Amino acid sequence: MNFEFTEEQLMIQQAARDYAQRELIQDVLERDEKAEFPERHVKNLAELGFLGMMIPPEYDGGGMDTVSYVLAMEEIAKVDASVAVIMSVNNSLVCFGLNKYASEEQKQKYLKPLARGEVIGAFLLSEPEAGSDATHQYTSAVDMGDHYLLNGTKNWITNGNSASTYIVMAQTSPEKKSHGINAFIVEKNSPGITIGPHEDKMGMRSSDTHSIMFTDVQVPKENRIGEEGFGFKFAMKVLEAGRIGIASQALGIASGALDRSLAYSKERKAFGTEIINHQSLAFKLSDMAVKIENARNLCLKAAWLKDNHQPITVASAMAKQYAADIAMEVTTEAVQIHGGYGYVKEYHVERLMREAKLTQIYEGTSEIQKIIISRSLAK
Ligand code: CAA
Repeated sequence: MNFEFTEEQLMIQQAARDYAQRELIQDVLERDEKAEFPERHVKNLAELGFLGMMIPPEYDGGGMDTVSYVLAMEEIAKVDASVAVIMSVNNSLVCFGLNKYASEEQKQKYLKPLARGEVIGAFLLSEPEAGSDATHQYTSAVDMGDHYLLNGTKNWITNGNSASTYIVMAQTSPEKKSHGINAFIVEKNSPGITIGPHEDKMGMRSSDTHSIMFTDVQVPKENRIGEEGFGFKFAMKVLEAGRIGIASQALGIASGALDRSLAYSKERKAFGTEIINHQSLAFKLSDMAVKIENARNLCLKAAWLKDNHQPITVASAMAKQYAADIAMEVTTEAVQIHGGYGYVKEYHVERLMREAKLTQIYEGTSEIQKIIISRSLAK
């Protein structure tokens, strides 16, 4: 087993680290406070090739592997998880899905600008009454011959307003249940689309999250992805790959919290010595480091499996569940280590704790990952 990274993977990790530590850090607190979309950073990340990292150069992507993606995501999320989720949705849920399942015409028209990061995309599956229970899609796509007519509401959509290209799941034949669902490429400026207000979230406040309403929106037939009824399987395949991105984001949040806790505990003195010299604290730091290392290994294993074209359903669910759960534990401990300072914004760890919570909720809650893992154990 080779645990060594290639030179290219290390260069990508370094480029992400440099950008995060030099640029993202400067205005992260202000963007969190104002819930302001990080427009400038998204443009810069596009220039670094970080918005279509795993897309082949022939479709204007970076041609990088999933291991590199994990390394870059960790570095970005360490400093700003909002920027990391924008990057993750565009790379994994949108570009990956189009690259793997879209037609050549669809790739030329939609994938290329997304992979260049000229525009960004969003993935519209969740609904007011269908979050975890994703087979129950109430948004309808009625077949009208040369086009589909979309009606319904999607909820909790990351990049909801900033995206130009939507991937929308909708039900065409309810009697066929999940086999009646289709996935469509929908342009955001299509007539009949209304965007709800920006959700005022607890964490990841500068990524934009919205509800999107569809009223008699016409979608050309050629914008359906894959065969009739392929939409649910498409969503599941895309999500299982996407979970590697969110797992890496959770990993980054946790390792950011450890870095800050280490720095603080080497400086802060109590009872006559730096607090790191108190065993009660040193043991906390040690537990945090072990959990982070485990999460990192699960993320890299899932990425390696994906790069080697092996099944990732269970590996990505394990990475996502574990990394999200330990991110919550590690960031909570980081606040505790900082004492009163941990509870104020200036020290960043309360923000990391707020961000960690979302990783247990989106792209499938921790409980959904347990369903996926336990079903595979029961087989
Ligand atoms: N690959 C291929 N096919 C799959 C699959 C997979 N990973 N998972 C399920 N399927 C297939 C099943 O085989 C089944 O097909 P058949 O009828 O032919 O047997 C069909 O899909 C239905 O599957 P299930 O019977 O297993 O469906 P279920 O109702 O029991 O639910 C679930 C399955 C795994 C819980 C699924 O509903 C799920 O993943 N839910 C969570 C959804 C989610 O992650 N939402 C996040 C929204 S996106 C987001 O958060 C993005 C963002 O903005 C950050």
